[in-house]
Amino acid sequence: MIPTNISKTLFTDIANQFGTPVYVYHAEKIKEQYQKLLSAFEGTNTRFFYACKALTNINVLKYIKEIGCNIDCSSVNEVQLAVTAGFAPQNILYTSNNIDFSEIETAQALGVNINIDSISNLKKFGQKFGHSYPVGIRLRPNIMAGGNLKISTGHKDSKFGIPLEQIDKVLEVVKETNLRITALHIHTGSEIKDVEIFAKGIEVLFDIAQYFPDLEIIDLGGGFKVAYKPGDEVTDIEKLGKKVGEELALFEKKQGRKIGFWFEPGKFLVSEAGYFITKVNVVKDASTTVFAGVDSGLNHFIRPMFYGAYHVIENISNPNGPIKRYNVVGNICETDTFAEDRELNEVREGDLLLFYNAGAYGFEMASNYNSRYKPAEVLIRDGKAQLIRKRDVFEDLLRNQVGI
Ligand code: LLP
Repeated sequence: MIPTNISKTLFTDIANQFGTPVYVYHAEKIKEQYQKLLSAFEGTNTRFFYACKALTNINVLKYIKEIGCNIDCSSVNEVQLAVTAGFAPQNILYTSNNIDFSEIETAQALGVNINIDSISNLKKFGQKFGHSYPVGIRLRPNIMAGGNLKISTGHKDSKFGIPLEQIDKVLEVVKETNLRITALHIHTGSEIKDVEIFAKGIEVLFDIAQYFPDLEIIDLGGGFKVAYKPGDEVTDIEKLGKKVGEELALFEKKQGRKIGFWFEPGKFLVSEAGYFITKVNVVKDASTTVFAGVDSGLNHFIRPMFYGAYHVIENISNPNGPIKRYNVVGNICETDTFAEDRELNEVREGDLLLFYNAGAYGFEMASNYNSRYKPAEVLIRDGKAQLIRKRDVFEDLLRNQVGI
């Protein structure tokens, strides 16, 4: 079992008080993760921007700000959320893809850091702002990386970033419009175990750094892998921190100027800090398997179905029950299997099942499919559990519908 320092009684109390299904986040675990990064990269001129697409509850964003972390956004609405949470513009980064130029203009007006991922938007930016506003370029380094193809974003067929082989075109635009390029960005994927992938990214960007005299930042995106089950391989951030330090020193020696690194971790900061509690509605002994049918489904927690992701599940209502095998499934009119042939302490109707690693891309990817309500969210801080989002109610389903 993945260790957690939250007592199972607290999870049960939360389920009883706020109902199920419910997402639960542990503030201090987020801080612990951030501190791990700070200590691994100490003395290396590195800044971290939390990729808030992983989890945008405003209370979590405020907490992220409070612990001193910066924020990375993938839509102009996330930028607005970051501003609302109190982040200063210089601590906000906007890395988008395939967006309308108007979003970039809004971000510029707010004074935040911007990475642009297409030649056409780069041109528009140059024509409008020229040298007056520093900007970053998102490149596609043609590196295959990440846990699976769906979350792999830097390979040669990926839609993300400007293909590296078009660097001449980029330079033409930069020259033509007198752009001030201060950052080069790549994000090759999520769940990158191998430090060598980051090293390869550094190599690619250092190779072209000479063409950018205003360069201040190499931004390697997110993608640090965390453990989803005991024994899982994770990104060795200590090793990466060391590598980054060495590369920075080498760069300075070779090019006679200083730069810094930025990273945009999402999962690393919030995945393990989050839990998802569901209640078992039905135990169905079918001929081939026993189904444990919970009061949730792919509408609330899609990672297992969409990515084939493995999440530890624990029956916190019957911790000493005999071990049996179940298919843990949802209540949606689709095949929404959370876990197949999974060993659990005997599951009875009404039992609470606790899902681990639900902080990143859990609630954030939830929907109202089958006209079900989105779950509530609770934050545990200083040992106290507080509601930070109410469960939907019936009116929410109709809120934006217009009668004709
Ligand atoms: N920076 C950029 C530009 C990104 O596109 C992403 C994630 C990150 C940072 C953060 O990556 P992380 O550190 O969280 O791996 N929904 C999928 C993950 C999609 C990631 C999208 N981009 C999942 O649940 O596995």
